[in-house]
Amino acid sequence: MTLEVQGDVSVPGDKSLTHRALMFAAAATGESRLRGLLPGEDCRSTAAVLRALGCDVPPPPDAGGEVRVRGRGLAAWRAPAEPLDCGNSGTTARLMLGWLASRPFAAVLTGDASLRGRPMRRITEPLARMGARFHELARPGVLPIEIEGGALAGIDYLSPKASAQIKSAVLVAGLGAGVAVSVTEPELSRDHTERMLASLGVPVRGGRTAEGWRASLEAWDRPLPPLDLAVPGDPSSAAFAAALALLADAGELRVRGVCVNPTRTGFLSILRRMGARIELAGEREEGGEPVADLVVRPSALRGTEVAPDEIPAAIDEVPVLAALAARAEGETRVTGAGELRVKESDRIAAIVAALRAVGAEAEELDDGLVVRGSHRPLRGRVATHGDHRIAMAFGVLGALPGSEIEVDDRACAAVSFPGFWEMLDRLASGGRGRTVEVGRLRSGG
Ligand code: S3P
Repeated sequence: MTLEVQGDVSVPGDKSLTHRALMFAAAATGESRLRGLLPGEDCRSTAAVLRALGCDVPPPPDAGGEVRVRGRGLAAWRAPAEPLDCGNSGTTARLMLGWLASRPFAAVLTGDASLRGRPMRRITEPLARMGARFHELARPGVLPIEIEGGALAGIDYLSPKASAQIKSAVLVAGLGAGVAVSVTEPELSRDHTERMLASLGVPVRGGRTAEGWRASLEAWDRPLPPLDLAVPGDPSSAAFAAALALLADAGELRVRGVCVNPTRTGFLSILRRMGARIELAGEREEGGEPVADLVVRPSALRGTEVAPDEIPAAIDEVPVLAALAARAEGETRVTGAGELRVKESDRIAAIVAALRAVGAEAEELDDGLVVRGSHRPLRGRVATHGDHRIAMAFGVLGALPGSEIEVDDRACAAVSFPGFWEMLDRLASGGRGRTVEVGRLRSGG
């Protein structure tokens, strides 16, 4: 049986941009118009948290279309009556800590079991230096955490990690407090916050220094203007569609309207080095972000070394890259990716265990992994640990002819990609393997 992946797809709106669009619209004064928002669970968590703070922010609708947010400025945010539930979303928790740092009230942030295990000191440490106060309510360094905000001092923060969440939290804390801030990170992480600030007229600058990449914000004491924004497709979601098309035997897939901000497309350079035939078409700029269609053709992939400095721009794509590496000629080695141990799951352990469970060869490194590719059929049962990107990466492998992969939780894909399984089914209907939920396979489905 062969697999032909032919046609045209679009993927849901970018998750990082959707979080930021909702937060900036709630902080602005005036009516923002937002299109193409991701209706994923993470972004619904952001909208719900903003509503709990008294903002008029509807959940991103399933059907797409335009959302209007009537912002009344940050000064209108009110102390929440209940703990703010950030669900599974690290970006919600970490960026909201930044926004709340300048608010003159206390709030408790919490989340699901995965988020309550993820490190928060990376955010609370610089914000505490600026003057915010934190009370860790359960265990050291993790949610639930109470934040008491108020007047803040500026900061020139040297971040030990390339992290857009750290950088964004400090930038929006400075914005809300009306003080100048800067963050220097070892490599440039995704720069959506800086681009969105610049598009709203806020003076923000970025550039290389001896220590890394520095983003700085001047003191801003004017109302934030509303946004008029179309969110492009999420490159992290497009990567799964592209992966299936690369592993297909025939066809050509066009993924329309994808955000191709260079701080997000590290996976494209890595894949091209592996022999992937992926081209960009119709490159344009929308709302301060570069956008293009990805045109993907079946490709014979070979293994590669992914270097530490490539990780920031490809951090969320390591699961799908590892899945592709299992089908490449030779060995793929990823290093400098220790951050993966504190994502929605310990992704290094989860990917390696899942690859082995389906019969692929892989091993863990402290800060990365090694995968040896083969063409043997992939069969077995995968534990996702509730991690959306693990579920989708193995969904792609399970859709290949001859594969038979059980995924223990398909529903978690909705965290970032509602409609993923339907898209996969449609694309793979030419000659597909089976990726089913454990319970369903057992009951014969
Ligand atoms: C994100 C930043 C990245 C990324 C996450 C989304 C963001 O995390 O992994 O999925 O929207 O700012 P880090 O900032 O921890 O690297």
